[in-house]
Amino acid sequence: MRLAVFSDIHGNAIALEAVLRDISKQSVDQMACLGDVASMGPQPAEVMDMLIPLNSIFISGNHDEAMLQPERRNELGISPFVQPDFLWGLERLQASHFEFLKSFQSKVEINVTNEIQLLCCHGSPKSSTDFMHPGTPSDTLNRYFESCPATVIVNGHLHSQFHEIVQGRHMINPGSVGMPFKVPPGPGCPPVMYPWAEYAVISLTNDDSDGKMNVQVELRTVRYRFEKLKEILLSSSLPGKNWWLEQLAQPEFM
Ligand SMILES: [Fe+2]
Repeated sequence: MRLAVFSDIHGNAIALEAVLRDISKQSVDQMACLGDVASMGPQPAEVMDMLIPLNSIFISGNHDEAMLQPERRNELGISPFVQPDFLWGLERLQASHFEFLKSFQSKVEINVTNEIQLLCCHGSPKSSTDFMHPGTPSDTLNRYFESCPATVIVNGHLHSQFHEIVQGRHMINPGSVGMPFKVPPGPGCPPVMYPWAEYAVISLTNDDSDGKMNVQVELRTVRYRFEKLKEILLSSSLPGKNWWLEQLAQPEFM
């Protein structure tokens, strides 16, 4: 089985377009979108319109949950700093987009073979606001995964790609399509973006010779039309568009 996983599009349809084009060349059997699709960026409705016809698994991120229940946005981890952009995106969604968001699942488990169980989630199987990063302490992982048999975990939320094997489990984060972090947000410090879109292709097979599972992970990056995104931002009323324009003004985006 070959699976393309992508996450955290955050209203950047230009980046999503490039990722979907790249995925179309990878001969995958299945796609999984791990959430945080429409909010924060300048193209919330455009992203939804691109996702609706896709034959893909859709997982609900904390931003997606908050779009359906905006009164819970603080507890769902939407920081006050980005709430003007969140609310701007919310106003631009139509009834069909909300219906689509309601179809997202909190987690999806797939039995790929007897030996490979794959779990897709946004944060952890317990909550869309849990974080996993390289080196997450084992007692935290044990808490996230108690009574979860999956041997391959794919999740989003971090906006940073990684693949590590912990206690025999593959932990895979495909990074972020629309807002990959070179520098994550800190107290009083906005994040800094990488000049590409991120996703992952995962190949899961049973090796015939010894019957063991084989998990291959390709963390991919794709450049996209930065000039087009800049054009869209310049004519947008997105409250935080200056942050986006500052990112695009970095030399690496030229
Ligand atoms: Fe996100």
